[in-house]
Amino acid sequence: VDESYIMVKPDGVQRGFVGEIISRFERKGFKLKGLKLFQCSKELAEEHYKELKAKPFFPKLVDYITSGPVVCMAWEGVGVVASARKLIGSTDPLQAEPGTIRGDLAVQTGRNIIHGSDSPENGKREIGCGSTMALACQLYVIHVLNRDHEQSFLLYL
Ligand code: GTP
Ligand code: MG
Repeated sequence: VDESYIMVKPDGVQRGFVGEIISRFERKGFKLKGLKLFQCSKELAEEHYKELKAKPFFPKLVDYITSGPVVCMAWEGVGVVASARKLIGSTDPLQAEPGTIRGDLAVQTGRNIIHGSDSPENGKREIGCGSTMALACQLYVIHVLNRDHEQSFLLYL
């Protein structure tokens, strides 16, 4: 089953869109497997976006991601990576279709409120032990516990 690393960026948290974003993924039919409110360090932001290191906006991107708490989430479901990218919309919110998260809620590329993994491989990496961010916010631990102990977890409720 596919997994996507979804992160509500600091502006999304600050503007109060955490519930709205979770709701859209739930309504679509995906399953929330891990979640944490987390203050991302400069080092973790640089690692998360390392493919963009050479871009002129990279320092601004790192400042943005570390400007306040983010909400880190692991979502699971068939086709969740590609579907999440559709739900999120284009990188530039002014180009994103109405009905998408960015299309409905944002206007600036540098303030586009949410991250989603861009491939199933990156989804696994960003949630798993290949990602320092996932380790730091214990997403992997929560994710694995959830998978292995879902039944017993439900018994505790
Ligand atoms: P993520 O889901 O966050 O990875 O966005 P994406 O996959 O739609 O875009 P990409 O990976 O190419 O860029 C990562 C993030 O860098 C974007 O979501 C923006 O927040 C930021 N970014 C990309 N291009 C620009 C730009 O031209 N200017 C600024 N200020 N930020 C940018
Ligand atoms: Mg990306």
